[in-house]
Amino acid sequence: MILLSGAGSNCAAILAAQAQFKSFKVCAVLSDTVTAGGLEFARAARIPTYSLPGPTQHIRETALLHYIEQLKPDLIVLAGYMRILSSNITQHLTQNCLNIHPSLLPHYPGLKTHQRVLASNHQQHGCSVHFINESLDAGPLIAQASLPLQRPITATQLAQQVKALEHLLYPKIIHWCATQRIRLKAQTVYFDHQPVPATGLQFTLDTMIKKCSKSIDSFKSLI
Ligand code: GRF
Repeated sequence: MILLSGAGSNCAAILAAQAQFKSFKVCAVLSDTVTAGGLEFARAARIPTYSLPGPTQHIRETALLHYIEQLKPDLIVLAGYMRILSSNITQHLTQNCLNIHPSLLPHYPGLKTHQRVLASNHQQHGCSVHFINESLDAGPLIAQASLPLQRPITATQLAQQVKALEHLLYPKIIHWCATQRIRLKAQTVYFDHQPVPATGLQFTLDTMIKKCSKSIDSFKSLI
Protein backbone atom coordinates (compact mmCIF):
# COMPACT_ATOMS: atom_id res chain seq x y z
CA MET A 1 0.00 0.00 0.00
CA ILE A 2 1.39 3.41 -0.99
CA LEU A 3 0.50 6.71 0.70
CA LEU A 4 1.24 9.97 -1.09
CA SER A 5 0.24 13.60 -1.36
CA GLY A 6 1.88 14.93 -4.50
CA ALA A 7 3.45 14.32 -7.89
CA GLY A 8 4.04 10.64 -7.21
CA SER A 9 7.27 10.07 -9.11
CA ASN A 10 8.33 7.53 -6.45
CA CYS A 11 4.96 5.83 -6.76
CA ALA A 12 5.51 5.60 -10.52
CA ALA A 13 8.97 4.08 -10.00
CA ILE A 14 7.58 1.53 -7.52
CA LEU A 15 4.73 0.59 -9.85
CA ALA A 16 7.18 0.14 -12.73
CA ALA A 17 9.45 -2.01 -10.54
CA GLN A 18 6.64 -4.46 -9.73
CA ALA A 19 7.12 -6.06 -13.13
CA GLN A 20 10.91 -6.11 -12.79
CA PHE A 21 11.07 -7.69 -9.33
CA LYS A 22 7.83 -9.71 -9.24
CA SER A 23 8.23 -9.97 -5.45
CA PHE A 24 5.54 -7.47 -4.45
CA LYS A 25 2.25 -6.14 -5.69
CA VAL A 26 0.93 -2.69 -4.82
CA CYS A 27 -2.59 -3.30 -3.50
CA ALA A 28 -3.71 0.33 -3.25
CA VAL A 29 -2.60 3.95 -3.48
CA LEU A 30 -4.02 6.34 -0.89
CA SER A 31 -3.80 10.10 -0.87
CA ASP A 32 -4.91 12.89 1.39
CA THR A 33 -5.06 15.15 -1.70
CA VAL A 34 -7.63 14.30 -4.35
CA THR A 35 -5.62 16.10 -7.06
CA ALA A 36 -2.33 14.30 -6.30
CA GLY A 37 -0.53 13.40 -9.52
CA GLY A 38 0.44 10.06 -8.02
CA LEU A 39 -3.18 8.93 -8.18
CA GLU A 40 -3.01 9.16 -11.97
CA PHE A 41 -0.07 6.74 -12.10
CA ALA A 42 -2.07 4.32 -9.95
CA ARG A 43 -5.17 4.60 -12.13
CA ALA A 44 -3.08 4.07 -15.26
CA ALA A 45 -1.69 0.89 -13.67
CA ARG A 46 -5.22 -0.18 -12.61
CA ILE A 47 -4.35 -0.05 -8.93
CA PRO A 48 -7.26 0.88 -6.63
CA THR A 49 -7.04 4.41 -5.26
CA TYR A 50 -8.57 5.80 -2.09
CA SER A 51 -8.68 9.28 -0.66
CA LEU A 52 -8.08 10.26 2.91
CA PRO A 53 -9.98 13.50 2.96
CA GLY A 54 -11.20 15.39 5.97
CA PRO A 55 -10.41 18.57 7.78
CA THR A 56 -8.79 16.90 10.77
CA GLN A 57 -5.96 14.48 11.35
CA HIS A 58 -8.33 12.33 13.39
CA ILE A 59 -10.79 11.90 10.48
CA ARG A 60 -8.00 11.18 7.98
CA GLU A 61 -6.32 8.67 10.25
CA THR A 62 -9.58 6.91 11.11
CA ALA A 63 -10.07 6.43 7.36
CA LEU A 64 -6.47 5.25 7.01
CA LEU A 65 -6.89 2.68 9.78
CA HIS A 66 -10.09 1.52 8.14
CA TYR A 67 -8.30 0.89 4.81
CA ILE A 68 -5.42 -0.85 6.58
CA GLU A 69 -7.91 -3.15 8.34
CA GLN A 70 -9.68 -3.83 5.09
CA LEU A 71 -6.67 -4.33 2.80
CA LYS A 72 -4.23 -5.84 5.31
CA PRO A 73 -1.09 -4.72 3.46
CA ASP A 74 2.18 -6.42 4.37
CA LEU A 75 4.00 -3.13 3.92
CA ILE A 76 2.93 0.51 3.97
CA VAL A 77 5.10 2.76 1.86
CA LEU A 78 5.10 6.51 2.45
CA ALA A 79 6.08 8.08 -0.86
CA GLY A 80 5.80 11.82 -0.42
CA TYR A 81 2.98 11.68 2.14
CA MET A 82 3.13 15.21 3.49
CA ARG A 83 1.19 14.75 6.73
CA ILE A 84 2.84 13.99 10.04
CA LEU A 85 1.30 10.79 11.37
CA SER A 86 0.03 10.82 14.96
CA SER A 87 1.56 8.50 17.52
CA ASN A 88 -1.70 6.57 17.47
CA ILE A 89 -0.88 5.52 13.90
CA THR A 90 2.88 5.25 14.21
CA GLN A 91 2.59 2.89 17.20
CA HIS A 92 0.35 0.71 15.08
CA LEU A 93 2.68 0.69 12.07
CA THR A 94 6.27 0.72 13.32
CA GLN A 95 7.01 -2.82 12.11
CA ASN A 96 5.90 -2.43 8.53
CA CYS A 97 5.92 1.17 7.40
CA LEU A 98 8.69 2.73 5.31
CA ASN A 99 9.43 6.34 4.49
CA ILE A 100 11.80 7.95 2.00
CA HIS A 101 13.36 11.28 2.86
CA PRO A 102 15.38 13.55 0.56
CA SER A 103 18.52 13.95 2.68
CA LEU A 104 21.22 11.88 4.31
CA LEU A 105 19.57 11.57 7.72
CA PRO A 106 20.16 12.51 10.49
CA HIS A 107 21.06 15.64 8.52
CA TYR A 108 18.12 17.77 7.45
CA PRO A 109 14.96 16.10 8.70
CA GLY A 110 11.79 18.00 7.76
CA LEU A 111 11.26 20.25 4.76
CA LYS A 112 13.48 22.23 2.32
CA THR A 113 16.34 19.78 2.58
CA HIS A 114 17.95 20.79 -0.73
CA GLN A 115 18.02 24.50 0.13
CA ARG A 116 19.47 23.72 3.55
CA VAL A 117 22.25 21.45 2.29
CA LEU A 118 23.19 24.05 -0.32
CA ALA A 119 23.53 26.66 2.39
CA SER A 120 25.91 24.37 4.28
CA ASN A 121 29.42 23.21 3.51
CA HIS A 122 28.41 19.57 3.09
CA GLN A 123 29.93 17.88 0.06
CA GLN A 124 27.40 15.04 -0.16
CA HIS A 125 23.65 14.85 -0.41
CA GLY A 126 21.19 12.07 -1.14
CA CYS A 127 18.19 10.21 0.22
CA SER A 128 17.39 7.87 3.09
CA VAL A 129 14.89 5.04 3.48
CA HIS A 130 13.85 4.19 7.03
CA PHE A 131 11.21 2.45 9.08
CA ILE A 132 8.95 4.99 10.71
CA ASN A 133 8.73 5.55 14.42
CA GLU A 134 7.05 8.18 16.57
CA SER A 135 9.60 10.88 15.72
CA LEU A 136 9.64 12.65 12.39
CA ASP A 137 12.26 11.32 9.96
CA ALA A 138 14.04 9.54 12.79
CA GLY A 139 13.08 5.86 12.56
CA PRO A 140 15.66 3.07 12.08
CA LEU A 141 17.62 3.68 8.89
CA ILE A 142 17.60 0.97 6.24
CA ALA A 143 19.65 2.55 3.48
CA GLN A 144 21.03 5.77 2.06
CA ALA A 145 22.12 6.67 -1.45
CA SER A 146 24.44 9.61 -1.88
CA LEU A 147 25.81 11.82 -4.60
CA PRO A 148 28.63 14.33 -4.58
CA LEU A 149 27.33 17.89 -4.39
CA GLN A 150 28.68 19.60 -7.46
CA ARG A 151 28.25 23.31 -6.92
CA PRO A 152 27.07 25.55 -8.50
CA ILE A 153 23.69 23.89 -8.62
CA THR A 154 20.18 25.10 -7.85
CA ALA A 155 17.89 23.49 -5.30
CA THR A 156 15.59 22.43 -8.15
CA GLN A 157 18.42 20.71 -10.05
CA LEU A 158 19.58 19.02 -6.86
CA ALA A 159 16.04 17.82 -6.11
CA GLN A 160 15.97 16.22 -9.57
CA GLN A 161 19.25 14.42 -8.96
CA VAL A 162 18.08 13.14 -5.58
CA LYS A 163 14.77 11.97 -7.01
CA ALA A 164 16.62 9.95 -9.63
CA LEU A 165 18.46 8.21 -6.78
CA GLU A 166 15.20 7.72 -4.87
CA HIS A 167 13.62 6.03 -7.89
CA LEU A 168 16.41 3.45 -7.88
CA LEU A 169 16.71 2.98 -4.14
CA TYR A 170 13.09 2.79 -2.95
CA PRO A 171 11.87 -0.03 -5.22
CA LYS A 172 14.98 -2.04 -4.36
CA ILE A 173 14.39 -1.66 -0.62
CA ILE A 174 10.73 -2.65 -1.04
CA HIS A 175 11.88 -5.71 -2.98
CA TRP A 176 14.29 -6.62 -0.16
CA CYS A 177 11.51 -6.19 2.42
CA ALA A 178 9.16 -8.32 0.33
CA THR A 179 11.76 -11.06 0.02
CA GLN A 180 12.53 -10.83 3.76
CA ARG A 181 16.15 -9.85 3.20
CA ILE A 182 15.42 -6.72 5.24
CA ARG A 183 13.77 -7.18 8.62
CA LEU A 184 13.27 -5.05 11.70
CA LYS A 185 13.67 -6.65 15.11
CA ALA A 186 13.69 -4.67 18.36
CA GLN A 187 14.45 -1.44 16.47
CA THR A 188 17.46 -2.95 14.71
CA VAL A 189 17.42 -3.39 10.96
CA TYR A 190 18.85 -6.66 9.61
CA PHE A 191 19.95 -7.37 6.07
CA ASP A 192 20.46 -11.06 5.30
CA HIS A 193 20.43 -11.67 9.09
CA GLN A 194 23.28 -9.22 9.71
CA PRO A 195 22.59 -6.02 11.68
CA VAL A 196 22.75 -2.95 9.47
CA PRO A 197 24.88 -0.03 10.78
CA ALA A 198 22.91 2.82 12.37
CA THR A 199 23.46 4.91 9.22
CA GLY A 200 21.83 2.21 7.06
CA LEU A 201 23.23 0.36 4.04
CA GLN A 202 25.30 2.84 2.06
CA PHE A 203 25.04 3.24 -1.69
CA THR A 204 26.72 5.70 -3.99
CA LEU A 205 25.69 6.62 -7.47
CA ASP A 206 27.83 3.86 -8.97
CA THR A 207 26.76 1.12 -6.55
CA MET A 208 23.12 2.06 -7.11
CA ILE A 209 23.55 1.60 -10.83
CA LYS A 210 25.08 -1.85 -10.33
CA LYS A 211 22.46 -2.94 -7.79
CA CYS A 212 19.64 -1.76 -9.98
CA SER A 213 21.04 -3.05 -13.27
CA LYS A 214 20.43 0.24 -15.04
CA SER A 215 22.97 1.58 -17.45
CA ILE A 216 25.13 4.35 -16.11
CA ASP A 217 24.37 6.38 -19.23
CA SER A 218 20.63 6.24 -18.72
CA PHE A 219 21.08 7.27 -15.10
CA LYS A 220 23.55 10.03 -15.82
CA SER A 221 21.22 11.51 -18.40
CA LEU A 222 18.95 12.31 -15.48
CA ILE A 223 21.53 14.36 -13.61
C1 GRF B 1 10.46 12.84 -2.38
O1 GRF B 1 11.52 13.72 -2.50
C2 GRF B 1 10.53 12.07 -1.09
O2 GRF B 1 11.85 11.90 -0.64
C3 GRF B 1 9.79 12.98 -0.12
O3 GRF B 1 8.74 13.51 -0.88
C4 GRF B 1 9.12 13.57 -2.25
C5 GRF B 1 8.03 12.89 -3.02
O4 GRF B 1 8.20 13.07 -4.40
N1 GRF B 1 9.35 12.25 1.03
P1 GRF B 1 7.24 12.33 -5.44
O5 GRF B 1 5.82 12.77 -5.12
O6 GRF B 1 7.42 10.86 -5.26
O7 GRF B 1 7.67 12.81 -6.79
